[in-house]
Amino acid sequence: MDREVIKVGMLGLGTVGSGVLKVLEQNRGDIAGKLGTSLEMVRIAVRDVEKKRDPSVDRALLTDNPDHVTDDPDIDIVVEVMGGVEAARRSVARALVNGKYVVTANKDLMAQHGVELLRVAGMNGKNILYEASVGGGIPLIRPLKRCLAANRILSLMGIINGTTNYILTKMSRDGREFGEALAEAQELGFAEADPSSDLEGRDAAYKLCILASLAFSSRVDMADIHTEGISEVKLRDIRYAAELGYAVKLLALAEETEKGLKLRVNPALIPLSHPLAAVSNEFNGIFITGDAVGEVMFYGRGAGSLPTASAVCADIMEAARNIKHEVENGIVEATFGQKPVIPFLEQESRFYLRLKAKDQPGVFAQLATAFGNARVSLDMIIQKRSDAETAEIVLVTHNVAEGDFAKAMAEIRAMPTIKTINSILRVVENQGG
Ligand code: NAP
Ligand code: HSE
Repeated sequence: MDREVIKVGMLGLGTVGSGVLKVLEQNRGDIAGKLGTSLEMVRIAVRDVEKKRDPSVDRALLTDNPDHVTDDPDIDIVVEVMGGVEAARRSVARALVNGKYVVTANKDLMAQHGVELLRVAGMNGKNILYEASVGGGIPLIRPLKRCLAANRILSLMGIINGTTNYILTKMSRDGREFGEALAEAQELGFAEADPSSDLEGRDAAYKLCILASLAFSSRVDMADIHTEGISEVKLRDIRYAAELGYAVKLLALAEETEKGLKLRVNPALIPLSHPLAAVSNEFNGIFITGDAVGEVMFYGRGAGSLPTASAVCADIMEAARNIKHEVENGIVEATFGQKPVIPFLEQESRFYLRLKAKDQPGVFAQLATAFGNARVSLDMIIQKRSDAETAEIVLVTHNVAEGDFAKAMAEIRAMPTIKTINSILRVVENQGG
């Protein structure tokens, strides 16, 4: 079909949507040259049409009714960048039923309803493209679906939330307070509308659902992923970690083992010599290990207007090529099975623990006994500082099962000599280390 113009409609014109308009405008000629067809943005749904916006946005394009985009017979591609789940789910399904391609940056939506929506897409001979949903501007979805498709993926590990990485970077480098760094991340457009999704690790867990499903050709649900955020990470732990030779990062991990899939998102100490320790601010970094390719690292801006728009616009271009050449690439996800997931308490980790105890003889020995009773072996134990009555103790364990560590902690919490348990973090070592 020789189409001179392919028409695009968009749901949302916030951080990502305004970036999409900018990229389509500034690279208009190049994009048309690569496609052999022009892209034209014909309608944009927003919540408030009266809101002050960049003056370059043509007000005549705006509507406050998403159905005016999804139901417009002239529109070929619907771009969903409004976020949230229920309204987005309804609009995406409606667009697909109306025979449009969908491009989305919405990881909450794809992690929770991707299977159902991709089925609707397949039934309508269309597709949903979601490269921007993970890693902002970093190519990850397409490499997993295509470039690495011949591999059995063994593991993936990385930093996949820009907001928390920005906060942890500002805390560790500039000694900034948590709240102040969060406010900056919000101002810069990195954080979700509800920032608790970033802070409590849910945003990273949604992204891990998407990546792990593709990596292991298996449906992965949020409930399969043990998720912890960074709200409890204290400046003091970041400093102590640095003294011990580690950086603190919010880490996402997915691994296929003989027992099943190991899936988790949690703050972790990473050796300063590990490449992920150098990933700072809103940047993301992800290692993927395949049986043939070995280790591959992806790195770049994981959040922000233009980086995310880069991925959204590439997906718009892919959809436009499919429309122009009347091809369907098939939906890879349709063939996924369901692999077993290792129960959380059986997963193994090294632990960093910081606690306060009465400064009196025998406390170290009591701690060692509690850990010994639960078969937890200690790698190091340090008394950091004492005031008249209180000793602060930091210790790191060897690799132990979560269940055994929890057993030791139950005994330690009950000890009359223990005043407070301040922090529990996981520790990751360099491979072979
Ligand atoms: P945002 O700045 O809050 O923008 C949301 C936009 O959607 C606004 O223009 C808003 O309208 C509009 N909107 C919200 N609900 C609507 C509704 N029910 N009907 C019509 N319009 C509605 O959000 P964002 O940061 O651009 O994020 C959008 C999506 O991209 C989210 O799924 C997010 O997770 C994802 N994402 C974001 C980033 C990032 O760096 N920000 C990166 C990757 C992926 P008004 O302008 O009138 O309020
Ligand atoms: N809030 C997300 C983050 C946006 O900070 O990573 C990118 O998905």
